[in-house]
Amino acid sequence: MLALADVSPRPLFGTNLEASVIEALAETGWAVAENALDPELVAALRHRAAALYMANAFDDGRVGRGEALTDGPRIRRAEIAWLNGGDAAETRLLAGAEALRLTLNRELFLGLFEFEAHFARYPAGGFYRRHLDAFAGGPRSRVVSFVTYLNDDWGANDGGELAIWNHADDEGAPALLIAPKPGTLVVMLSERIPHEVRPARRERLSLSGWFRVNPGVGGVLDLAA
Ligand code: OGA
Ligand code: MN
Repeated sequence: MLALADVSPRPLFGTNLEASVIEALAETGWAVAENALDPELVAALRHRAAALYMANAFDDGRVGRGEALTDGPRIRRAEIAWLNGGDAAETRLLAGAEALRLTLNRELFLGLFEFEAHFARYPAGGFYRRHLDAFAGGPRSRVVSFVTYLNDDWGANDGGELAIWNHADDEGAPALLIAPKPGTLVVMLSERIPHEVRPARRERLSLSGWFRVNPGVGGVLDLAA
């Protein structure tokens, strides 16, 4: 399941974009950049996801720690497939995530240790209710969330927006609605930023990943984690 970044770092975007993403993340807890990913990489990842889907590599996944599988569909209706570096597009994405991991650690001292990511396919009618990406109450693990979209285009009436709130106790309107357009990048603090995927009116493909710290065992660094 873990896609360990066993790849050389190679930036996904220029240093200006990287700097503005990191500045926004530090200031507000989230950052959004349109057309952040190269369209060729987006297309290659879309083809990879389609091939995995044809090969029945997607499944329902499980949301939350210890949650019954039967609760999953009420929270998220989507299927996922973990990246494992199994083709050039995945390797390129993981090399980009590795470059971003190093920059995040250098600029924000986050001590991020590894990256895991999955493709997610939301069918028409698919959604993911409001949630935080980090499991509450457990040891720290997911710290920074990374989301990008692999749809070939996305219309104003296609639904499927990502809604983001600034704080866990914000009950009102979201701070921002983001259309899942190809190449848009969203970065969020996993433990702080609630978000949801509104029902999509057509198939919606995303790629979500998480930079994690080593949770350790009993406060001791666990090199086997
Ligand atoms: C997730 C998630 C958002 C999106 O996978 O945890 O919140 O827009 N995805 O696909
Ligand atoms: Mn999420």
